[in-house]
Amino acid sequence: MSSPAVAFATQNHARFVGELKDLLRIPSISTLPEHKGDCRRAAEFLAAELKRIGMENVRLIDTSGHPLVYGDWLHAAAKPTALVYGHYDVQPADPLDEWISPPFEPTERSGNIYSRGAVDDKGQVWAQVKALESLLAANKGLPINVRVLFEGEEEVGGEGIAAYVASKPDNLKADFALVSDTELFAEGLPTLCVGLRGMIYTELEVRGAKTDLHSGMYGGAAPNPFVALAQIIAKLKDENGRIEIPGFYDDVIAPSPEELAAWKSLPFDEEHYRKTEVGSSKLVGESGFSVLERTWARPTLDVHGIPGGFTGAGAKTVIPARATAKISMRLVPNMTPAKAFALYKSYVEKIAPAGVEVDVRLIHSGDACLIPVNNPYVQAATRALHDVWGKDTVFIRSGGSIPIVGDFDRHLGLPSVMMGFGLPDDNIHAPNEKFKLQNFELGIRSLIRFMEEAGH
Ligand code: BES
Ligand code: MN
Ligand code: MN
Repeated sequence: MSSPAVAFATQNHARFVGELKDLLRIPSISTLPEHKGDCRRAAEFLAAELKRIGMENVRLIDTSGHPLVYGDWLHAAAKPTALVYGHYDVQPADPLDEWISPPFEPTERSGNIYSRGAVDDKGQVWAQVKALESLLAANKGLPINVRVLFEGEEEVGGEGIAAYVASKPDNLKADFALVSDTELFAEGLPTLCVGLRGMIYTELEVRGAKTDLHSGMYGGAAPNPFVALAQIIAKLKDENGRIEIPGFYDDVIAPSPEELAAWKSLPFDEEHYRKTEVGSSKLVGESGFSVLERTWARPTLDVHGIPGGFTGAGAKTVIPARATAKISMRLVPNMTPAKAFALYKSYVEKIAPAGVEVDVRLIHSGDACLIPVNNPYVQAATRALHDVWGKDTVFIRSGGSIPIVGDFDRHLGLPSVMMGFGLPDDNIHAPNEKFKLQNFELGIRSLIRFMEEAGH
């Protein structure tokens, strides 16, 4: 199982962790304008390291938002080419007072590194870079051709990378994508993710009176946009969790019987999941589908926030002129974001109560994806994972979305090998995000062994 590159990674592990902490200290929060400079700094940090380890043509590619980081090494004649992808941007860190150590001061505790971005996705991006460094240092070259493409807008929809992939497919010629932005199904269990949900993220604005009004003078005559919004939202899903938008499920394709059977044999304890991961008194959702089916293979709709109106301390008697809600839908393979949005928009316009106007806006969208398990690169990945983890790989889907993975398939014709090393309890997008250091180390080894396998 060992190779010179794996030995190099083992010898240099402490340095790798130290460098990761430097990357984690940069608060590259893509959604907040005040962190634009930090996003560029994180991109420059990665580009400098790619250059240092011997990648070529390293450069930042400017986009409408945060820059892409590109580098390549294309001297493995007659070998396949990997497009290595990850994202350097992170989610906002709030609520800050729930962090045990500050989000941008990476701290080790009981075998984990705690920081915003530790596992989503800087730790995994760094594992990719360190796998490349180990291969280049130990062998003076790579076993396959590699193009690296890191983005800084994944957490906000990935508009910049999507435009680049659509407009410059020739710069990204490859045989497969290697994506490290997913998780293991369970501790110690080598996992490949072969499906992601897509999404449409929307904003729904309801307008009533021309201005805010005194609720005593006008209550009873003026429409209330918050009440109208609540009525609309209440009609989006029925009490069994089924989305009530007509036609919404028309294109949904059910997983194959083989895939469903494989999910049944995964080590999943619904009660444990309810208690430790969700922490609610009951799980909800469409009846007739298991939790894994509901979160991986069924579309869903969620409300994220309802900003507006009076939210200060105390009381204010006002009928606000407008109310908005942030609402997203997760899509599954064969659904298209454009059609899902059109159906949603016309349904909302139809059910809007009298006296208000609605404005339904699309913020961003991305396709779902499904990778065939018998793809030769997926199979090479299982051999590499067996070497490192000593176990057979499980194939899972994830309910999350990585918008560009669908585009890799549609615009570049690339299957994605989604080899990630997070854990279900790593608190991604939440306070106290962490990355288990052992998974960082085994992740680097897995990526090295995979590139070696892919070059055989
Ligand atoms: N890495 C996640 C997606 C993910 C989560 C994959 C868990 C597998 C397991 C990614 O960074 C993410 O959070 N994506 C967003 C995308 C959205 C903002 C377009 C998501 O899923 O909400
Ligand atoms: Mn991610
Ligand atoms: Mn994320």
